[in-house]
Amino acid sequence: MQLNDKKVIVTGGPTREWIDPVRYISNASSGKMGIAIADAFYNKCKEVVFVHGPIATSLVSHKQYRCIAVETTVDMLNAITQELSPNCIVIMAAAPADYRPMTKSPVKIKKTSETITIELQRNPDILKTIAQLKKDRSEYSTITLIGFAAETTDVIQYGKKKLIEKELAMICINDVSSAEIGFSSDYNEVTVMIADGQIIELHKMKKNEIAESILHIIEEKL
Ligand code: CTP
Repeated sequence: MQLNDKKVIVTGGPTREWIDPVRYISNASSGKMGIAIADAFYNKCKEVVFVHGPIATSLVSHKQYRCIAVETTVDMLNAITQELSPNCIVIMAAAPADYRPMTKSPVKIKKTSETITIELQRNPDILKTIAQLKKDRSEYSTITLIGFAAETTDVIQYGKKKLIEKELAMICINDVSSAEIGFSSDYNEVTVMIADGQIIELHKMKKNEIAESILHIIEEKL
């Protein structure tokens, strides 16, 4: 795949789902893998847009490419949908929250009882939503979807399942059970699985080196 005529939408970081004005549900994603990917693609592509959840502002303050800050998973989906264009590549390195509270309390919840139950509802799956858009709208049929998978057990099986279910061209599978790689670390170790079944192991290296390797795989194999 040629990259110089492509728009690339990269996502990174967590999303945040509010419970009340002071509390939220989120996860430990730092956004570093997404930034490393956006950086790697910046000089190779026509345009890079980085859509990110709440992450340290210092990580994105001096970037030459457009950075769009969002809060919730629904916000992230809306921001990506607005950026979609024919032939673009979407690389979902973000860790969007899968559930959000049914309601956000307008006031701080007081600790009146020993236990508390917060009812959650499913958030949209961003990749599955775009995969459906590819089928529904002919101008989007040429979009390339690339996902990540954060797994702690049966890493390859679950990764393959996500590749198929989310209709991806490629998936980068992370074993997040190790503290030395993944989430806040500057290092990562990734198994890349391509839709045709090819598997490429990227051994432990810095996230920017992983990002360069992912870029080369996309260039050469997709
Ligand atoms: N993803 C997405 N929309 C969501 C959640 C995840 O598009 N609501 C994307 C992630 O950005 C990633 C891929 O789907 O590229 C896999 O995310 P992961 O968190 O590993 O898996 P989930 O699909 O959330 O499934 P589970 O939590 O059950 O493992």
